[in-house]
Amino acid sequence: MQRAALAWRRAGKRIGFVPTMGYLHDGHMSLVRDARRRVGPDGIVVVSIYVNPTQFAPTEDLSKYPRDLKRDYALCRGEGVDAVFLPSDAVMYPGRAEGRYSTYVQEERLTLGMEGASRPTHFRGVTTIVAKLFNCVLPDVAVFGAKDWQQAAAIRRMTTDLNFPLKIVVAPTRRESDGLAMSSRNAYLSAVDRSQATILSQAIAACRQAVKQSSVPAAELKKAVARLVKTRPAGRLDYVEFFDSDTLEPVTTVKRGSHMALAVFFGKTRLIDNGRL
Ligand code: PAF
Repeated sequence: MQRAALAWRRAGKRIGFVPTMGYLHDGHMSLVRDARRRVGPDGIVVVSIYVNPTQFAPTEDLSKYPRDLKRDYALCRGEGVDAVFLPSDAVMYPGRAEGRYSTYVQEERLTLGMEGASRPTHFRGVTTIVAKLFNCVLPDVAVFGAKDWQQAAAIRRMTTDLNFPLKIVVAPTRRESDGLAMSSRNAYLSAVDRSQATILSQAIAACRQAVKQSSVPAAELKKAVARLVKTRPAGRLDYVEFFDSDTLEPVTTVKRGSHMALAVFFGKTRLIDNGRL
């Protein structure tokens, strides 16, 4: 991958990169289209597919994470992707199985709350693998989805802090027609879970409406979201947070332009969503 990337760069081609864990859907494909727009028809678009073990806790769904490489390839081919990078565990984490791998990248401020509080080892795995993928693919631009807002903020911070010479783009969340944010994990949902999972985007819409005219205490909105999620018996609220879009600092008073994020369990499947209010 590095040899190919260096050759492309020497030939003056721009490299656009979309890192994924596979089981691709239209949300990923819209990131690919964004990368293509940015590097142009003569540029190179690379998609990586790697289910990164270090961002899953032992209790999480690593072994069950959905995979369908054949379909992923077909989607990439259909979208004009130039290269799919499929690294092995041995390449990404040399010696890990024998306990020798010992270097990680950790962002220490933006990753403490929300997803970081619910999944304490998650972001260390994400920033580590993304840094490593950047070193392999050597992109000029990398495109991430806004659905993982906190992830995108941490990656942007890491890119600045570690002087990676590339631009980070955060592209809008793609949604199903009923508002559910597209996610590979939606594949786990039963029919009942699926019908009730719209509560995430509905909660965001309700909060947006609530702060349209005047600001509202965050504590009040948190209670309202908890009540709303309880109307869906299959759902269990993990967290809801209101914060500043850029700094991710929690706000005590929510107003237009504040950001919110929430996570809701449906059985063992945990869905996340976020939006600017
Ligand atoms: O968002 C994802 O799919 C993953 O967290 C990423 C960025 C590909 C790192 O494994």
